[in-house]
Amino acid sequence: MSATDSPAVELAGVHKVFHAGRPGEVTALTGVDLTIARGEFIALIGPSGCGKSTLLRLVADLITPSGGTVTVAGKPAGKARLDQEYGIAFQQAGLFEWRTVRRNVELPLELRGTPKRERRARAEEMLALVGLADFARHYPAQLSGGMQQRVAIARALAVHPPLLLMDEPFGALDEMTRERLQDELLRICAATGTSTIFVTHSVPEAVYLADRVVVMSARPGRITDVVPIDLGERGEATRQSPGFFAGITTVRAALRGTPVAVES
Ligand SMILES: Nc1ncnc2c1ncn2[C@@H]1O[C@H](COP(=O)(O)OP(=O)(O)OP(=O)(O)O)[C@@H](O)[C@H]1O
Ligand SMILES: [Mg+2]
Repeated sequence: MSATDSPAVELAGVHKVFHAGRPGEVTALTGVDLTIARGEFIALIGPSGCGKSTLLRLVADLITPSGGTVTVAGKPAGKARLDQEYGIAFQQAGLFEWRTVRRNVELPLELRGTPKRERRARAEEMLALVGLADFARHYPAQLSGGMQQRVAIARALAVHPPLLLMDEPFGALDEMTRERLQDELLRICAATGTSTIFVTHSVPEAVYLADRVVVMSARPGRITDVVPIDLGERGEATRQSPGFFAGITTVRAALRGTPVAVES
């Protein structure tokens, strides 16, 4: 299989133990098998501490598995990281305090050697998208928590990465901004063919965004269900549709541990 027709992400028998063999040993993940197709949108949901951030960090090669393999775009995760296959927006905004908002968004483009003029134009386009065009010259400390989070989202999207990893990116946002960014995110992912892993605690958000909702349970963290969502093109009507509510009911049942149809 060549790199171009390989899945976006492949986790096989992944296991992660923190502090192995020492006091405070934690098995964060066990027996994780998941294949994500190119262009697919995966929502990851499960109780606090079940290993969602750990799974994302393994895919991003920020930590290494204790067992099993993590393959991204047909390559080991470490190689994919060096090849800059990712855009990442994590639970904390993680902005650089000494850089302006615009220069924070420009940073991944700078690292890729994108020319200054193009960098600036792209950063401004992304800031407009997240509703922060007027704040380009501000510093992160001058923004609210939700605004900082939106800068982090703009930064993750700026490079149009093949794989987008997002860890509760919309958690700090008001409902209307959140719904607008959900639609924008779907539009960008569809337009650029981006594959996405999106962690959320919101069942409606997971169902609205995802092609498949991956449900996890804690202690030890593992995948308990994969719920396919078939709602077609999303829009305002989707949020009122019977299919949307049916999806929510199915994911809720899976979170409670009530058996539902599982896709292999
Ligand atoms: N660096 C670390 N060192 C030790 N234990 C860790 C580390 N990172 C995570 N863990 C443990 O691994 C488990 C899973 O943590 P993780 O952050 O992946 O959970 P989560 O599903 O993202 O939770 P939340 O929804 O609260 O963000 C927890 O028991 C946590 O204490
Ligand atoms: Mg987390």
